[in-house]
Amino acid sequence: VKQGTPPALRFLENAIASLRRDGLLRERVPASSATAMSFCSNDYLALAARTSQRGAVGAGASRLMAGERLEHAELEQAAADLVRMPDALAFTSGYAANVGTVAALAGREDLVVSDALNHASLVDGARLSRARVEIVPHLDLGAIDAALRLPRSGRALVVTESYFSMDADAPDLARLRDLCDARGAALIVDEAHALGVLGPEGRGLCAASGARPDALVGTFGKAFGAGGAFVAGCSTLVSWLWNRARPFVFSTGLSPALAAAAADGIRLAAREPERRERALKAASRLRTGLGGLGLDLRGFGHVVPWIVGDAVAATRIAERVRARGIDVRAVRPPSVPHGTARLRFTTTAAHDDAAVDRAVEAVTVALVGEGRP
Ligand SMILES: Cc1ncc(COP(=O)(O)O)c(C=O)c1O
Repeated sequence: VKQGTPPALRFLENAIASLRRDGLLRERVPASSATAMSFCSNDYLALAARTSQRGAVGAGASRLMAGERLEHAELEQAAADLVRMPDALAFTSGYAANVGTVAALAGREDLVVSDALNHASLVDGARLSRARVEIVPHLDLGAIDAALRLPRSGRALVVTESYFSMDADAPDLARLRDLCDARGAALIVDEAHALGVLGPEGRGLCAASGARPDALVGTFGKAFGAGGAFVAGCSTLVSWLWNRARPFVFSTGLSPALAAAAADGIRLAAREPERRERALKAASRLRTGLGGLGLDLRGFGHVVPWIVGDAVAATRIAERVRARGIDVRAVRPPSVPHGTARLRFTTTAAHDDAAVDRAVEAVTVALVGEGRP
């Protein structure tokens, strides 16, 4: 049905035109063609095509009502075992897990200390909590300490990612844990992009640093090739989230079929460690290749951000690279701060040396097209 914008929504036309002018409008890019090689997927272990469907698709109700299925308990056990925590609770997405957990652990009287580059879901959880929010400069432990020393009437909660998905860097988790202990703060760590790939046996960066957060968030939609997410911690935490995490309580339970696929993803990742090794080997080859072109690359590991700066230029360069059969996307504000638009390459177990070399070649040609040989 063709229909113009109704009068009450006309203001959106101006807003969209303004986004387009600033190079910030996101439009659908068709799914990669069969010949394009994706360097922008979070399917880090190339398991999405391997996880299969079994079990019912619909949970039929909230888990609190009639939506509880065996697949949920099995997945939660596998997730808790993966991160060596006593218990875990499965959510329908990482977004829901973060919003629900932060908002369930902080209230009006409390303080949430949040890294400036935290994912939108952590930011939205802090907003929903109605706590006072102190946003601290990225990875700045001194600023976290200063925020925790401020006079407060309630509790404090420090929220961070373990492997920042747009910058590929990481906080010093061991020192952060010590700092939280010293100041009586709880620590939530989102391991969405680290789990399955980084740390001992792919168990994440908390495991690598020996730091135990009070709540550890992981997603099944990235390295584990399925969908949904979990929050792991003590059983008291899980019991509280069961009762108070709004996106969990007031929403249909995670699809049992997806829960079974996620459990498969965890099992496959453990059984085939060479997937993790391939993703990391490809990353190191890509970093060497792109670094040789003199690009401003950041961080470490399987996410390889190239900071271009200008959003319009980043979009144009991404198009030039895609024209060479390498699928990569420009990441622009508001996903990243203004002036730091970037091409975010990710490597996966599907990338061999030839694929990485093709990507470097595509960027080389794109730079020539930009008059930057
Ligand atoms: C750091 C981080 N946390 C959480 C999420 C949300 O996870 P999900 O895609 O499962 O909603 C994402 C991205 O999707 C993310 O990058």
